[in-house]
Amino acid sequence: MTKTDEYILGIETSCDETAAAIIKNGREIVANVVASQIESHKRFGGVVPEIASRHHVEQLTIVFEEAMQKANLEFNDLSAITVTEGPGLVGALLTGINAAKALAFAHQIPLVGVHHIAGHIYANRLIQELEFPLLALVVSGGHTELVYMKEHGSFEVIGETLDDAAGEAYDKVARTLGLPYPGGPHIDRLAHEGTPSIDLPRAWLGEGSFDFSFSGLKSAVINTLHNAKQKDIELDPKDVAASFQASVIDVLVTKTAQAVDKYEVKQLLLAGGVAANKGLRAALEQKFSTVDNLELIIPPLSLCTDNAAMIAAAGSVLFQKGVRSDLALNANPGLELTSY
Ligand code: KG4
Ligand code: ZN
Repeated sequence: MTKTDEYILGIETSCDETAAAIIKNGREIVANVVASQIESHKRFGGVVPEIASRHHVEQLTIVFEEAMQKANLEFNDLSAITVTEGPGLVGALLTGINAAKALAFAHQIPLVGVHHIAGHIYANRLIQELEFPLLALVVSGGHTELVYMKEHGSFEVIGETLDDAAGEAYDKVARTLGLPYPGGPHIDRLAHEGTPSIDLPRAWLGEGSFDFSFSGLKSAVINTLHNAKQKDIELDPKDVAASFQASVIDVLVTKTAQAVDKYEVKQLLLAGGVAANKGLRAALEQKFSTVDNLELIIPPLSLCTDNAAMIAAAGSVLFQKGVRSDLALNANPGLELTSY
């Protein structure tokens, strides 16, 4: 360790993963610990906010201490403590924020609040140095957005979902098919075994629009299943999954391609939990990996779903830009992604 090395602690508790990580010099993962609560929420078919908060309280110290041990660091080695301030579940966010504030206050370490989606985008910087301008396709349980970045810390949302997020649609369709929570990975698996034989809608939302809408598609799947049941026709869930996934991927890839053309970006980044989708990853590879002067970055699965390494990676950039939070930092469940 040299005196000039920067070590950033990240804490993430916005939903159902309790996570702590340490990043060296903005890009190198030194420790990345994630405790998932999925098993506790499964029987309810979705995340129960109260249970999520309780788990975070129980797990936070363990997860954080494990990260510090793995990194073999003392508090005075840390340059900053970064934490997700929103969006997310208010109670869940508060557990992480209060832990971060307590550590920052007790050890007199700078504190930086980080936007969860900025974190998802910056997960890519743990793979490859970012080059601007770039475009990020953000597809998570709560968000579907195309984000244009002209420089570090600058986020312009050029399109977003008008209703359901992609992950939300995956989870709801999965539930209708009787699959466990979270449904995205199950639909993904089934989709690869089926054929996209059912005609389902694609919401283009008008010429030149980079916005998305998935609630019509979700309703179409539910109606298709309902009608088939009434007529005693048996639909193969694999074909339903394949048809649904084909529609989602078609819209995501087509709109991303139009945005890449319009904004002439150097890099295209994939971010968020749905970035773990095999079909989406393959479709993006096929469409963009051979485009001249465009670099496609797709993070490994462990950095697509919620983790704290991504929060520390985004936090490092904000810290370098001089962004600081004080002890009045509060959870902001509806925090907008704006430039820092
Ligand atoms: O980013 P994330 O971990 O949490 C939020 O910030 O929302 O995303 C979780 C979402 C869930 O909706 C989950 O079903 C979806 O990501 N997901 C997937 C896959 N793996 C996770 N969706 C489709 N295919 C997958 N393989
Ligand atoms: Zn997330």
